[in-house]
Amino acid sequence: MFLFFAFKVYHMVAKFSRIIGTGSYLPERILSNKDLQEMVDTNDEWIVERTGIKNRHIVAEGETTGDMAYQASLKAIEMAGIEAKQIDMIIIGTSSPDFFFPATACYVQDRLGIKVSKGAFDMQAACSGFMYAVAMADSLIKTEMAKTILVIGADTLSRIVDYTDRGTCILFGDGAGAAILQASDEAGILGSQIYADGSYTSILNCETRIDSGKIIGHPYLTMDGQSVFKFAVKALSGVAKELADKCGITLDEIDWVVPHQANMRIIESTARSLNASMDKVIVTVDQHGNTSAASIPLALDLAVRDGRIKRGDLVLLEGVGGGFTWGASLIRF
Ligand code: UT7
Repeated sequence: MFLFFAFKVYHMVAKFSRIIGTGSYLPERILSNKDLQEMVDTNDEWIVERTGIKNRHIVAEGETTGDMAYQASLKAIEMAGIEAKQIDMIIIGTSSPDFFFPATACYVQDRLGIKVSKGAFDMQAACSGFMYAVAMADSLIKTEMAKTILVIGADTLSRIVDYTDRGTCILFGDGAGAAILQASDEAGILGSQIYADGSYTSILNCETRIDSGKIIGHPYLTMDGQSVFKFAVKALSGVAKELADKCGITLDEIDWVVPHQANMRIIESTARSLNASMDKVIVTVDQHGNTSAASIPLALDLAVRDGRIKRGDLVLLEGVGGGFTWGASLIRF
């Protein structure tokens, strides 16, 4: 009887996964609106008014998504106060991996000098990559597949941006953000929701392919800005309301909203629709631009480190991106 009870306790499934550390990395080089004025027919006033963006960071020659992901991971590991070897799985949300294969997550695992016992892999959900990776990591911890997962959002979209196209080149920057999720009996991630609808492929994509040594298709990211804008506001407010409902939370209980940083007007419209005042919303788009899968963990890390997000706060992370893909997580921090 005792043995049976002890066996049951030992095999008790962790109730939650918690974020025990965050980290981020931005390349040194800054591309300002003034710099862009020299490259395309645009101006600081237009960019700030339509997007809220002033600066973006761009990788150095030879610097990759994997390099940025590694740097962000070191910071997250340090904050978590764990040894890197305690990580048993690595998931990277990215749409600009270093290679077709191996996965960028394997590169990070090797650079960290660890052997992960539960695997390392990339997830491709464009700007929603981090939300997909968090949802996946949370489920894998709750089902005891892994105990400590390094979850990263990292992208180098400057590699696929056409710097002669003023409609897109003003928006994007490079960066990486990371979080360590660990099994816990204390409340952490309360729930996640992810979605996809491939019928929207034409309004945001990078359809470059390599076939038998030839590059096929348009080599850069293309976008119908207005359609993306409308979809993004609808998706972000919809998923937040649904998730709050699913978790039995009312929107006014949420302390902080950490949205994907695509455009200041998208962030403000979504906040209005959620009845959230802007002083509860973490904004980095002015200084980072749209860093794709990195934007949410970058903003989260900034707000944790500057003391706005504290232990016990209720935090909504949410993102939308090409695919279309979108998703959210509600977290008791
Ligand atoms: O993770 C998701 C990624 N994508 C997004 O988040 C994109 C969401 N959409 C947007 O952010 C906005 O739609 C944009 C910022 C891309 C564009 O803003 P908009 O208010 O939708 O402008 P628009 O495309 O309707 O263009 C208005 C005018 C056009 O000129 P005309 O036709 O009125 O003469 C554009 O050619 O602004 C012109 N324009 C520019 N002017 C100066 C477009 N880009 C620029 C520019 N500088 N960079």
